[in-house]
Parts: sequence; C-alpha cells; structure tokens
Amino acid sequence: MKKQAPTTHPSAAQARREHERLGAEIAAHDQRYYGEDAPSVSDAEYDSLRRRYEELEAAFPELVTSESLTRKVGVAPSEKFAKVRHKAPMLSLGNIFSDDEVLEFVARVRRFLGLAEEAPLAITAEPKIDGLSCSLRYEGGALVQAATRGDGFEGEDVTANVRTIDEIPHALRDDPPEIFEVRGEVYMAHADFAALNARQAAASKPLFANPRNAAAGSLRQLDPAITAQRPLHFFAYAWGEASALPADTQMGMVSAFKRFGFPVNPLTILCHSAEDLLSHYRRIEALRATLGYDIDGVVYKVDSLALQQRLGFVSRSPRWATAHKFPAEKATTVLRDIEIQVGRTGALTPVARLDPVTVGGVVVANATLHNEDEIARKDIRIGDTVTVQRAGDVIPQILGPILEKRPNGAQPYAFPQTCPVCGSAALREIDAKTGTADVVRRCTGRLVCPAQAIEGLKHFASRNALDIEGLGDKQIELFFREGLIRTPADIFTLEARDRASLKKLKDREGYGETSARNLFSAIDASRKPPLNRFVFALGIRHVGETNARRLARHFGSFEALRAVAREALEGSEARAEINNIEGLGEVVAEAVGDFFAEPHNETVLDALLEHVTPQPMEEIASSSPVAGKTVVFTGSLERMTRDEAKATAERLGAKVAASVSKKTDLVIAGPGAGSKLAKAVELGIETISEEDWLKLTGQA
Ligand code: IVH
Repeated sequence: MKKQAPTTHPSAAQARREHERLGAEIAAHDQRYYGEDAPSVSDAEYDSLRRRYEELEAAFPELVTSESLTRKVGVAPSEKFAKVRHKAPMLSLGNIFSDDEVLEFVARVRRFLGLAEEAPLAITAEPKIDGLSCSLRYEGGALVQAATRGDGFEGEDVTANVRTIDEIPHALRDDPPEIFEVRGEVYMAHADFAALNARQAAASKPLFANPRNAAAGSLRQLDPAITAQRPLHFFAYAWGEASALPADTQMGMVSAFKRFGFPVNPLTILCHSAEDLLSHYRRIEALRATLGYDIDGVVYKVDSLALQQRLGFVSRSPRWATAHKFPAEKATTVLRDIEIQVGRTGALTPVARLDPVTVGGVVVANATLHNEDEIARKDIRIGDTVTVQRAGDVIPQILGPILEKRPNGAQPYAFPQTCPVCGSAALREIDAKTGTADVVRRCTGRLVCPAQAIEGLKHFASRNALDIEGLGDKQIELFFREGLIRTPADIFTLEARDRASLKKLKDREGYGETSARNLFSAIDASRKPPLNRFVFALGIRHVGETNARRLARHFGSFEALRAVAREALEGSEARAEINNIEGLGEVVAEAVGDFFAEPHNETVLDALLEHVTPQPMEEIASSSPVAGKTVVFTGSLERMTRDEAKATAERLGAKVAASVSKKTDLVIAGPGAGSKLAKAVELGIETISEEDWLKLTGQA
C-alpha cells in the first residue's frame, strides 16, 4: 500500500480516537464477512475503511499494537466446528487498485531486495478467486485434514465436508512430499449458484446473496451430506507446512499441484515487468464475464521462493505478493424511498429502497445510505436517479444522484429528529473534547424504545454471542410483541412460565412439541457461556467480539470485570486499568464504565446472573526466542538487507532500536561494526553474528 499522509491531518489524540473507532467498525465487518458469511458493506467501502486505518498507523506508528487489525486476518473461528491450529499461518494479501500502485509494488520489491534496475525479476499473475480459502493437509499422500482460514491462525475443521468435493483428491499422485499442506480457494460456479438458489426458492428457504456466500455456507455445513449436494470447486495456489518442497519457484509449485492431481487456474502466467503484469490484468479483466465463476482481481507473486523467503511478511500480508483488485461494478436506478432503521444502540440508519436493478449479475433493491451527513453531502433526494455500486457484497452503496434526471420539485431529504419507532428525540452526541457532532443520530429512548430492546435481544441470542439455536430474529420479534421476552433474563424463565401458562408454546403457530422442546434445550445449553461471548452478548457500546475477548482475558471472571467496571468513573484507577488493557483505550473504557454505572443495566444483569454462569477464560501464551527483546543491527549484513533484517526481527516480536543503550538485549554485528559494537561490549550486552542470528531465529 502507498505510504502517504492521511487525507486529513488529525492530532495524535484525534488519530487515536479515529483509529479506535475504525478498528471497532472494521472488526464488526470482519465478523460479518468471515464469521457469518453475511457482509453488510461493499468490498470497496471496507477497503476504504481499512486504508484509512492503515494510513493512520503509517502516520502515527504508536497506534500499532499487537492487537492492531493490520496484524490480523479474518475472525476467530465459529465454535461449532472443531478447531485446527494452522502449522503455518494463513495470511491475507494487501490490496492495490491503480496502475501506479503496480509499478510501486514492483519497485518496492526491488528496493527491499537491493536488486539493480536491470536485474531480472520474475513475477506470476493469476486471477484472485472470490471464494473461501482452505488448507488441505496430506500425510503420506493421503488427505487427513481440511481447515478453513478462520482468523489465520486457527480455522475450522471441515475435513468431512471437503471429502465430498470431487475436485479435491483424497490421495495425491506422483510422489508428493511426506507432509504437504495445499492451500487454495473453494468456490461455486455461476451456473451451480443459480441452480442452488432456484432450489432454495422452491423450498421457501433463504437465498444466498452471491456465489461466495453460497460456497462458504455449503462448506461450513454441520452435515456433510448437504455439502455433497452443493457442487463446489477448487483451485490450488499456495501451500502451508511441507516436509519438502517439490519446486523452487511459484510457477514450479503450481505445476507440482497439477501433477499431484489438483485443478490450477489456467490463467496463471509468468511476467517479467510491471507492464507484463498490467497487460495480463487487462486480459483477465476482459475475460472476467466469461469465466463462469467470480473473481475480484489479479494476484501478483514473486516467482522465486528464495526471494519470497527473503521478502517475508509485513503484519498480515506477504511483501512478495499483492492483490490488484477490480473496480466495483455500477448501475443506475431510481431511489423510491428512504427508510430509517433503529439499531441496538439506537443508531438511526438510513436505507435506500430502490427500483430493482441488476448490478454485476445480482438484483439490488436496497442500498445503504450510511448516515445523515452522507445524504446531505451527496444531496440525495427521494425520486432521484442514483448510481449504485456493488462489489461482491450484500448491501451495495449509493454513489450519488444524477442531477440531470432529478424530478421537478424533489426536496432535500429531511432526516428525522425523532425515533421512528418510539418517538423519543433522536440526537447526535457532541464529543466533549472536539466539540464535533457524532455522525450517527441516536434515539434517546433507550429504556422505552422497543427497537433497541428487540435488537439488543437479537444480539444477545445471536451466533457469536450466546448462540441460542431456535431463537432467531423472527422468534424474538414474536416473543417480544407478545410480552413473553422483554429482557435477556426472560429467555431463561421462558420454559418455567410456559409450563404454568395456558397458552403453551407448542400450541402456537409455527411451533410444535418438538420445536418447543428443542428451543428449551437450546436455551438450557447456553446457561454456561464462555466469558468472552457473555461479555460480547451484553451489547456494551464499542465492545465487539475482539474487545470482549480482551476484557475477558484481562479479568478472567465476570465478577472481577464487574467489580472494576462498576468503579470505572472518569479519572478513577479502575477506568485507567481498563484503558490500559492492550488494544482497548479511552473510548472503550468510558463505554464500559457507562454501561455498569447505569442502574437499569445492573438490575438486568442481576436477574440474568441468576440463570447464567459465564465460564472463565483459559490463558493463551505465545513466544519466539526474541519476542519482547530490543535488538540492534550494526555493521554490514551479508545475507539480507537492513530492511529485511528489521522486518524479520519485528515479525518475531522483537523491537529494533537504532542505537545501543542499557535497554538493548541483543546486538547483531556484521563486518565493519564500530562504535555500537564497542558500546555493547562495554555495557556487557550479548553480541552475536549474522549467522547466529539466522540460527537463533530459525532462518538458517
Ligand atoms: S495467495 C499469503 N492467490 O485472497 C497469501 N490468494 O486476500 C496467500 N485468494 O486468503 C494467498 N485467489 O483466500 C492467493 N490466486 C490466489 C487467490 C487468493 C483468491 C484469496 C485467499 C486469500 C485472500 C487474500
């Protein structure tokens, strides 16, 4: 990615707040995309959030922590499948969008490797398949395990499902290495996707938004028999753990995959310049509509594996590869209405109702309008003809109106000042420090607003919170309307009340003996949730899954968290303790303090804890021999460039300092080392050679 100054220049404090806010937003999108296979923003919007986040970190390096999203991929795996720890992490690719960035990618690789301009550099180019990545482990040539990517470190065991995919060999041909993990993309072809959706419609089942979601939904089925009925395909393009490598180039590896029996993408070629890459990109872009499966860009990879090794990774993506994404697809249609939805935190979100239009093969009738400022800034009016953009996602976005087509008399949109559900005033909070109004207008009727209560209950029971099967959105709406469930604690007394009631659940429309019994047992099964899920389920503002996990890890038990959170008033030690948890900060600490300071929440919690016992977290530790150490490189290095050495050290968790001081733990000295080496000796700091460093860090 281009290192450039952020488009606006915030102060350090503003940057921290924005970084934190974006972090929470991106994490929520990641959860929806990877965890629920149901994204709610376009890829283009997601990319722009991510870019801004990265820009902030580039301008304010102190924002980068081990918890930073730039160091992570995806989300933690769902807890329904057994977990698989990836022997080699499954990382992600950086994105680029313009021709200039392609030139820059090649230049950066050359710079990092110290390659002269005329020195040859081979780079492969291949389609970026829009499916889901999968790691297939073969031992002695036999398929023993298949796993999804998950959060990149731990995925889900989908072996049984993968065995039903025809294109994935159960046994490898042609003398494969003893241990070999093949990685690639599982995807669904357009024709199969259309047929699947037709079957879903005929059975009154929900439709899949796109082939990617259909492939993910099919692979992540608990019942492999269902996966077997859904035709899935596979392209091999990468590898994980391997006892030996069958080739020393990317192209060679791809040929080996083919020999072993995997499908590989026929549009994979070897290029020798940025111009070659761009011309293959244009060729693939031109072929895109005829391929029969979704692709969303072209991936470039340095061909030599030795060079890949030297280039290594920067946070979550390899330096030796990048994804050149296609621009989003667009269409025009008429905006019929703007509907306001009220969320769990009272946020009023405008949604555009459109005359249905096909964008990139998908019919679009709704689009997000984000917030009131966006509508005003773009001056979007009901009746306008608007441009809609979609990029392999569920909720497309509106780029803006086509002014020449504006009907006479169309009025600027007046955003409601009251909640459309409960009628309470809807306000935009003013940030006490900056004096600026929040972009989101929120309903102030927190305790009386049915929309907030219902959304809160939906969140509480949802898959990544308490995961109560059978208590989905529809059921919660019904139970709320009928007064059966108004607060989370009511869920757990439902069965007892049902027993005493004349109007039993099993006699209601949509229920029978079995479904009522299943619901009650699903509720029972959720009485001992892991602490992180319980904290997430509470729906505290700014506490998404990641922050819930951080709080749970830090405090260990709900009692410990509650004891501190209750005291977390502004300026208190308790507030500081939460603020200082790695990855959290002021905004989250304040939100946690506010939540527990609210007497109503305390009452709800007390009632809830009579039925639910959150389970303490287990500790996780990670380390490399140099994690947490401060190292200094001095003298000339012979096996790597200085950038490379620094990057590897940082990847292993070390801090790299420019000069030697008492805080230095280790000095790596090459030929010609002078005053720094002398100082290290004087201070009694351990000094090693480049060779020793490579051994210590497992690179030799
Ligand atoms: S290479 C170290 N090649 O894109 C990264 N990835 O954004 C190795 N993808 O997680 C990945 N087509 O799911 C690679 N031809 C291709 C790909 C591809 C699709 C996906 C893959 C990856 C994601 C990265």
